[in-house]
Amino acid sequence: MAGAIRAPGELAAARRRITEARGVVILTGAGVSAESGVPTFRDRTGLWARFDPQELATPEAFRRDPEGVWEWYHLRRQAVLACRPNPGHLAIARFLLERRDAVLVTQNVDGLHQLAFETLGSLEPPPDRPVPPAPAGRILELHGNLLRSRCAECGRTEDDASSEPRPGGDRRERVPRCGRCGSLLRPDVVWFGEMLDAATLDEAFRRAAEAEVCLVAGTSALVHPAASVPLATLRGGGLVIEVNPRETPLTPSAGFSFRGPSGRLLPELLRGATAP
Ligand code: OAD
Ligand code: ZN
Repeated sequence: MAGAIRAPGELAAARRRITEARGVVILTGAGVSAESGVPTFRDRTGLWARFDPQELATPEAFRRDPEGVWEWYHLRRQAVLACRPNPGHLAIARFLLERRDAVLVTQNVDGLHQLAFETLGSLEPPPDRPVPPAPAGRILELHGNLLRSRCAECGRTEDDASSEPRPGGDRRERVPRCGRCGSLLRPDVVWFGEMLDAATLDEAFRRAAEAEVCLVAGTSALVHPAASVPLATLRGGGLVIEVNPRETPLTPSAGFSFRGPSGRLLPELLRGATAP
């Protein structure tokens, strides 16, 4: 039955499918960072239960009230900067280092997947070489990154340090500005009504179509096009494995659906699944 709690043997079977798969795509959502203390969006205590996205996460809201939008994003930045990767992030980072045929597609904007590589380095320094940084090109951020800013006019991106609130002055003057053209900077995240980066999206779908397994963790699978990524794997004849405490619209299509927190289940699923 879709959505049932699986017997322990099912976990071993799913791990074997991951081990044997040629091409693995991991798709993550906000739930993967929940155990790090980052709020999700659509859960009972999620951000969209407490805040109106139309007031905070649309280009119109930014045009109307850039100060208000920035205040909220600065608070989110501060909150995220206080969070650390959890065992789910670490398991994914280890897996990406060991499996060159694996790619991570994430909807998360918190940067914790990238930070997991640094954490790995401090936890388990290998004997003769440092843990490499996040493998280039194998973390596809579909919705941007909260810790980066982008010029609303010329598109130049800047890291978070350069776009802290400017001290003093009135509210308007505190909105960070582009170092090149002086226009307003905005958080480099995708807002409602905006397109995703086409090259990143194409790459995600191409990899998903070729993958024999798509492991989907911590997403409500409600926001497209991200939620369509596993469907590309299914169309290509591949298997979907889901990890989520709750059922989602994807659950009926998943060959395996594990109910529980990703911080516990991802290490179990990915441990040793490092061949071929
Ligand atoms: P949602 O808030 O929609 O869904 C979070 C999912 O995580 C839910 O299905 C929860 O059941 C699950 N969850 C909660 N705790 C978990 C845990 N410990 N382990 C595993 N899963 C857990 O978040 P997303 O699916 O990421 O877009 O939302 C998609 C997009 O909608 C976001 O990227 C964001 C938002 O608007 C943008 O910011 C562009
Ligand atoms: Zn500019």
